[in-house]
Amino acid sequence: ARYSQTTVFGASAVLLVLSALGACALDTYVAAVYEHNVILSEDTEVPVSPEEALMLMEKNIAILEVAIKEAARQGAHIIVTPEDGIYGWAFTRETIYPYLEDIPDPQVDWIPCADPGRFAPSPVLERLSCLARNNSIYVVANMGDKKACNSSDPKCPSDGRYQYNTNVVFDSEGKLVARYHKYNLFVTEKQFNYPKDPGFVTFNTSFGSFGIFTCADILYHDPAVVLASRLQVDTILFPTAWVNTLPLLSAVQFHSAWAMGMGVNFLSANTHNCTLEMTGSGIYAPDGPRAYYYNTEMDNGHLLVTELSSRPRLSPDYPAAVNWSLYASHRAICQQDLCCHLSYKMVKKHQDEIYVLGAFDGLHVVEGEYYLQVCTLLKCLSTNLSSCGQPVEMAQTKFEMFSLSGTFGTSYVFPEVLYSGVQLAPGEFEVLTDGRLISRTTTSKPVLSVALFGRWYEKDPPHTAQASP
Ligand SMILES: *[C@@H]1O[C@H](CO)[C@@H](O)[C@H](O)[C@H]1NC(C)=O
Ligand SMILES: *[C@@H]1O[C@H](CO)[C@@H](O)[C@H](O)[C@H]1NC(C)=O
Ligand SMILES: *[C@@H]1O[C@H](CO)[C@@H](O)[C@H](O)[C@H]1NC(C)=O
Ligand SMILES: *[C@@H]1O[C@H](CO)[C@@H](O)[C@H](O)[C@H]1NC(C)=O
Ligand SMILES: *[C@@H]1O[C@H](CO)[C@@H](O)[C@H](O)[C@H]1NC(C)=O
Ligand SMILES: *[C@@H]1O[C@H](CO)[C@@H](O)[C@H](O)[C@H]1NC(C)=O
Repeated sequence: ARYSQTTVFGASAVLLVLSALGACALDTYVAAVYEHNVILSEDTEVPVSPEEALMLMEKNIAILEVAIKEAARQGAHIIVTPEDGIYGWAFTRETIYPYLEDIPDPQVDWIPCADPGRFAPSPVLERLSCLARNNSIYVVANMGDKKACNSSDPKCPSDGRYQYNTNVVFDSEGKLVARYHKYNLFVTEKQFNYPKDPGFVTFNTSFGSFGIFTCADILYHDPAVVLASRLQVDTILFPTAWVNTLPLLSAVQFHSAWAMGMGVNFLSANTHNCTLEMTGSGIYAPDGPRAYYYNTEMDNGHLLVTELSSRPRLSPDYPAAVNWSLYASHRAICQQDLCCHLSYKMVKKHQDEIYVLGAFDGLHVVEGEYYLQVCTLLKCLSTNLSSCGQPVEMAQTKFEMFSLSGTFGTSYVFPEVLYSGVQLAPGEFEVLTDGRLISRTTTSKPVLSVALFGRWYEKDPPHTAQASP
């Protein structure tokens, strides 16, 4: 559309070329994510036949199909579905095996829907490809890949195969355009192998460039930071099965903060299971959340659809670079090299609520080892100081203003603001270029936490070695 005026002046050959380009590049696009309540296998300890495995996967895909059709009807260009969304979790190496397909490298240029049977039997790839093709929408899904190996490879597991937690992407014609093997497996994922290298998977579309990774990958440098920072993708695709962990690592809270800290669009699709505290999906832009979902009451899935800028870095609203330690260089509370500075004013002080200011500078060692620098204002569970830092979901205290900053040794800092009821605060806060996270207005809801969640990747221990079965 941008080129239509130019074409008026062109000769017909020029007109053709320009209109072809003009028709392709979109300034904005419509993104969708689906939070899915996965139908689980009754027993993940007992092996099932490939037919039984496929029946369970078909049930889940039937639910995803409804969401994909609805997203396409609302004009979405792309939809992301969750990690483990097709078969669930808690398998062993043997019991996951009947669910896996041998997923070829996208370089083979394959539309499974149009050319089924070209490779090994792949009913799941074919069905996903047809869903993309029939509905003219990019489909992002998570499934399992298997790759046979033998003693010619010294690292080959004793059962003769690698098994990978894998994201696949089909374009709107059903072509397989991306395949990503999860690099940072969660501690419980014994059914899968670590890939040999991180695999920085990207692809280009008429609505921007995309990078992809999975769940726990968001906590580490490779491939997440490389995709956003060095490869400068516009949008990250993020299937996840995220267990909410307050005070600082609830899904909507941390994923929206990462999008803002890294300056990318971020499409996060979580699984939904209230018993396991899995909920929280969103469509996040560099300047704040555009749509998100957090629901601990209901058991059904949920579709989010909203518009995003295709190339947010080119937008006049794109947030300026931040020097995270500029403002905080004077006074504060400190741990090791990190000093945190807070100024604030509460609307009204509630006698039965206390808040603390916390600083943490060190190696985090629970569910993975990674180096953190965190400054946080936190609501405590009770008025007993030793309850501070425990998960808390409700508060009563609104703040007239707050300003939090810290003397960070890293430039990777993710700003979090979380309100009572685990709600985000779009438009109510901002990050200044001197590193202050400040409120823009009196908070519209009581505050649970305000945090600068810093990751110092250089201080991480080396990446976990190849796991043996
Ligand atoms: C796609 O469309 C074809 C032809 O209309 C139909 O046979 C097929 O079942 C559809 N597949 C899916 C997954 O929607
Ligand atoms: C072992 O694996 C290699 C590489 O995957 C393959 O070329 C070779 O044919 C295999 N050998 C046997 C005996 O299966
Ligand atoms: C996408 O486009 C960019 C810029 O045009 C290019 O540098 C990059 O190699 C492309 N990536 C892929 C995966 O084609
Ligand atoms: C949530 O997950 C648990 C454990 O995997 C399972 O027993 C339960 O049925 C799931 N809940 C729902 C509503 O699916
Ligand atoms: C950020 O500010 C600190 C403190 O004034 C300064 O030492 C540092 O060089 C600045 N960093 C950058 C990247 O400008
Ligand atoms: C505060 O909590 C700690 C640990 O739970 C407990 O030992 C202590 O007695 C409590 N203090 C008060 C004043 O209740």
